[in-house]
Amino acid sequence: MKHLINLRVNGNTYPVDVEPRERLLDVVRYKLDLTGPKEGCGTGDCGACTMLVDGEPVTTCLVLAMTARDREITTVEGLSRPGELSAVQQAFVEKTALQCGICIPGFVVNTTALLHEHPHPTEEDVRYWLQGNLCRCTGYTKILEAVQQAANASNGSH
Ligand code: FES
Ligand code: FES
Repeated sequence: MKHLINLRVNGNTYPVDVEPRERLLDVVRYKLDLTGPKEGCGTGDCGACTMLVDGEPVTTCLVLAMTARDREITTVEGLSRPGELSAVQQAFVEKTALQCGICIPGFVVNTTALLHEHPHPTEEDVRYWLQGNLCRCTGYTKILEAVQQAANASNGSH
């Protein structure tokens, strides 16, 4: 049986019909058409589906949409303003920290959470925080550089 719930995503409220078994990732991608978050594994192991829920990074392939009602959800789309990428998004572009791109929305969202919590992360902090985000293409070097660049930009020291 479907239930009508309100989902708050990227500052907008969406009334949406969901089945109790539907995952937040699927509802956001296929009912709200926000396709930034990706499905890599579907088992909580790769981080590609990461969104912020009340500011915390969450692997949304493991979350039922019903449990996210009235929470503040942020996808990678919600990090930018019209015509302006966030510092993290900009750094990933400038460092070309991507290849196929499947993992990148999760990295960008989780890096945003990291820099909120640790504005001056060491490389060890970054590796620890992002250990749940897997990338099969880049070898991580460019990603680490992008995170550091974003931290510097966020702190006003380009
Ligand atoms: S798709 Fe959710 S962690 Fe991999
Ligand atoms: S860029 Fe392809 S998995 Fe990360």
